[in-house]
Amino acid sequence: MENFTFLSPTKIIFGRGVEDQVGEETKVYSKKVLLHYGGGTIKRIGLYDRVVKSLRDAGVEFIELGGVQPNPRLSLVKQGIELCRKHNIDFILAVGGGSVIDSAKAIAVGVPYEGDVWDFYSGKAVPEKALPVGVVLTIPAAGSEASKSSVITNEDGWYKRGLNVEIIRPKFAIMNPEITFTLPPYQTACGAADIMAHVMERYFTHQKDVDFTDRLCEATLKTIIKNVPIALEEPENYEARAEIMWASTIAHNDLLSTGRIGDWASHAIEHELSGIYDVPHGAGLAVVFPAWMKYVYKEDVDRFVQFATRVWDVEMDFANPERTALEGIHRLTQFFKKIGLPVTLEELGIPDDRLEEMADKCTNNGTKQIGNFRKLGREDVLNILKMAR
Ligand code: NZQ
Ligand code: ZN
Repeated sequence: MENFTFLSPTKIIFGRGVEDQVGEETKVYSKKVLLHYGGGTIKRIGLYDRVVKSLRDAGVEFIELGGVQPNPRLSLVKQGIELCRKHNIDFILAVGGGSVIDSAKAIAVGVPYEGDVWDFYSGKAVPEKALPVGVVLTIPAAGSEASKSSVITNEDGWYKRGLNVEIIRPKFAIMNPEITFTLPPYQTACGAADIMAHVMERYFTHQKDVDFTDRLCEATLKTIIKNVPIALEEPENYEARAEIMWASTIAHNDLLSTGRIGDWASHAIEHELSGIYDVPHGAGLAVVFPAWMKYVYKEDVDRFVQFATRVWDVEMDFANPERTALEGIHRLTQFFKKIGLPVTLEELGIPDDRLEEMADKCTNNGTKQIGNFRKLGREDVLNILKMAR
């Protein structure tokens, strides 16, 4: 096991009706906040009214900025920064999913910074200060409610890039599984693929003796495999929605990374898909992850055998471990298909005329390698994209 430091300071407030606590939680930090949200779902499902009432009851004033799109854009982040500066706002309340939360985090680091906030995403600068962010979560998927990441798309060149720093972990996350009853099946499935991908990025490591976190990863994956089909069948099944929602946070708050080095190549490749083609992140991962697995499994067949036998209950073929490993990858692909996700670029609606461009962008024109399980250069990324066609 590697040495590690683990800090997961986000206060989780979970269960039925907890959104009514948002005013009290917020007023600990500020009496004047930016209320940030997406394309209107929160108004349609009545959540906006409940959040506003709770803020007013607690004496918290707010300025609002809606309109965050999935794959959140830099231009709206810049509007949010201006708005906060103009109104002396020192807290951002994100009500939505990963896109809204990531946009809120970007505003949070942008307000105290004199330069261009994109510097933090392009790697030109590291943020030292951030306004505090609070969350009311509406979709279990990205895990941004307790993560140190924010992923933003710059429309100038359609670069989708991430920032990873501790100072942007939200102060609190309010999570009521009932709010996720309205999720359409496709968004539920995309969320499932993202949650599973966050676990698998950590699971495929060369660290030995990480049995405890291996088992936690397997339990998280099995929870999703069991409960997502139930939630698709019965969208208002509270217990299934609750299991998925809690798993989504644990999948990405770094508990499962303790003592091990994760991979993250599939995420890097997927960000090129959703950056250029604006597809949902989870759908992109359902296409990229199995292709990545087929490309790299020979690096450590035993680890893929463990994945197959423990997560997918594949019967061990002692005479042919590779067959067992490949069966695990096959079962993952079948699961994605079963829950309604695309598993090829074609099914995702992505033509194959810009694969070279994506491989270039992903590896900074071949000057940078991605991933850890196997270090991947430009040609490797291109090969994986071709395998995903
Ligand atoms: O825009 P609204 O109207 O809110 O609708 C959203 C959106 O269309 C809808 N939705 C959300 N809650 C709903 C709902 N519809 C009905 N009922 C509800 N309760 O769902 C759609 C998708 O929302 P979005 O926030 O984009 O989804 P998600 O949480 O999957 O976030 C995806 C973004 O997070 C990034 C992804 O790259 C992508 O940009 N990620 C962020 C990470 C992080 N910060 O730690 C890690 C991830 O790996 C990921 O990269
Ligand atoms: Zn993800």
